[in-house]
Amino acid sequence: MNSLLFVTLFEVISLCLSFKPVIYMHGILASSDEVKPIIDLIEKVHPGTNVTTIDAFNGYESLQPLWTQVYKIQSIVVDIMKDHPEGVHLLCFSQGGLICRGLLSVTRHNVDTFISLSSPQAGQYGDTAYLKYLFPHFIKEEIYRYFYTSYGQHWSVGNYWHDPHHEELYRNESVFLALLDNDTNSEHNIEYKENFLQLKNLVLIGGPHDQVITPWQSSQFGFFNGSEDIVEMRQQRFYLQDSFGLRTLDKRKAIHIYTIPDIEHVMWYRDPKVFHCCVKPWLT
Ligand SMILES: *[C@@H]1O[C@H](CO)[C@@H](O)[C@H](O)[C@H]1NC(C)=O
Ligand SMILES: *[C@@H]1O[C@H](CO)[C@@H](O)[C@H](O)[C@H]1NC(C)=O
Ligand SMILES: *[C@@H]1O[C@H](CO)[C@@H](O)[C@H](O)[C@H]1NC(C)=O
Ligand SMILES: *[C@@H]1O[C@H](CO)[C@@H](O)[C@H](O)[C@H]1NC(C)=O
Repeated sequence: MNSLLFVTLFEVISLCLSFKPVIYMHGILASSDEVKPIIDLIEKVHPGTNVTTIDAFNGYESLQPLWTQVYKIQSIVVDIMKDHPEGVHLLCFSQGGLICRGLLSVTRHNVDTFISLSSPQAGQYGDTAYLKYLFPHFIKEEIYRYFYTSYGQHWSVGNYWHDPHHEELYRNESVFLALLDNDTNSEHNIEYKENFLQLKNLVLIGGPHDQVITPWQSSQFGFFNGSEDIVEMRQQRFYLQDSFGLRTLDKRKAIHIYTIPDIEHVMWYRDPKVFHCCVKPWLT
């Protein structure tokens, strides 16, 4: 009798405490162990959460064009969303955050909260270990000559390479980020915006000691202007023109920005402090 009562109560409590599923998208050149630290943290604080880590475009495959990645991953996440009509959360790291933005733009989704974990949302312009490793013969001032060609756009990094000294060429040639931002005046953007605005919350996490995302403010939609000064999100053209819904979300108080010092790029998904302050509160 007592144990029956206990089971029933337990079930009722579990139902009340049921957390929305989490879908995690990894970063560039990632291996599957990237995911483990953050999954462990989620499981510790919210046991029973259904966490799906996208097992696609691992390692070198992550260098494939971002639209290729978005549409393949869309076929995976759409099924998860259908199974969970109450909504899901997207937790996306670094390059993965741009894939998630692509998904949110082209999908009739039911994402409740999109957590963008140190992701170059306004683009990347910086010499990093990754870039030197992948393109040892280029320096950041010159690589636009390659990235802003149809060949260069076959690389994921080319899709969000944003050279502030070559804005016009960027708008002409970038087939991904410039399109999402409506820098190319495409007719798709009405639909992108409608889809993006299905979001309930947008959480932007980044910080000044990241060392990969350049400028680090890109993790919060800030970016360099032509003299490499930072123009923050609310002064960006795509914000002012509400090109994909950012300004509307902000008016709804749906954008939550966290700046955390002393976190290097590969620590964002490992550091319990980051998780507890800025990720956990949104995983409800
Ligand atoms: C988690 O979600 C996936 C995708 O919807 C589903 O296939 C799976 O059965 C779920 N797992 C549990 C333990 O509920
Ligand atoms: C961008 O495209 C326009 C229209 O095709 C062209 O006139 C212009 O020269 C291009 N700009 C650059 C920097 O290539
Ligand atoms: C960049 O922004 C800074 C600070 O707002 C401003 O002084 C500078 O003139 C801007 N540079 C360009 C090229 O727009
Ligand atoms: C995209 O840009 C074009 C041209 O500036 C504009 O007409 C259109 O309304 C913009 N789309 C959105 C969704 O802001």
